[in-house]
Amino acid sequence: MDKTAGTPSTSARAEGATTARLDAAIVRLPDAALVHGLRRDDRGWPSPALALEQHARYREALASCGLAVTVLPADPAHPDATFVEDTAVIVGGEVLITRPGAPSRRGEVDAVESALRAAGFETSAIEAPATLDGGDVCEADGRFFVGISARTNEAGANQLASWLARRGIGCTAIDIRARTDILHLKSGLAWLGGRDLLAIDGFPMADFAGYSIVPVDADEAYAANAVCVNDAVLVASGHPRLQARLEGRGYRTLALDMSEFARVDGGLSCLSLRFRRPPC
Ligand code: GLY
Repeated sequence: MDKTAGTPSTSARAEGATTARLDAAIVRLPDAALVHGLRRDDRGWPSPALALEQHARYREALASCGLAVTVLPADPAHPDATFVEDTAVIVGGEVLITRPGAPSRRGEVDAVESALRAAGFETSAIEAPATLDGGDVCEADGRFFVGISARTNEAGANQLASWLARRGIGCTAIDIRARTDILHLKSGLAWLGGRDLLAIDGFPMADFAGYSIVPVDADEAYAANAVCVNDAVLVASGHPRLQARLEGRGYRTLALDMSEFARVDGGLSCLSLRFRRPPC
């Protein structure tokens, strides 16, 4: 049964959902150093070869959704560099370059910033001592949620909120520091387009007033990190109930094997920055 937070919403995907059509993405190849990626639990070592195969399927899925995919070279100096989403927040033609909360990840931002500038974006940056990971930033129909987490501190959430406020965009902070089940806000929350959010249990529902919540069962929680790309939703494979629930609501799903990235706390959204290219 779907749960609705606040005002009633439709029980199926809204016609004419306001999701902007995306036309490009930036990804970064996983390096063999992925085996040294940060992780909270030991779930076995990722296989670099299998990670490369899964990354190729991921790129194909983005391309099949109409995105031109820019592939950055692997970065042996930064084991987590394939998780490019953590390095930038894109709003319209502007980019806020983050300052990742894990010191080992701070050097990842330069290559991504260069690629985004080459794509025509203006950039500004989070300033120390603030930290912000893109995985804590969830856009949802013209507004944002930001997780205050082990990676994103209050100063980072505040800098993001101020940056968005200067652009007339609201932002609500959700404190997830007490949660041990998720690394980033988007480990448990995804925007599906329109007013639909995919969410695991335990978030303050009042923050989601006006949104319709598609619940994720506890034993399928990893799949909450889904990604809406134009007319499809990318979902981690092996989570059949969630996939059926999304299909039942009118979403076309594309299931992707994420086993190797999951071993180092990576999810579908972390693997790309998705955007609409600014006009030349
Ligand atoms: N391994 C992904 C991260 O911890 O940021």
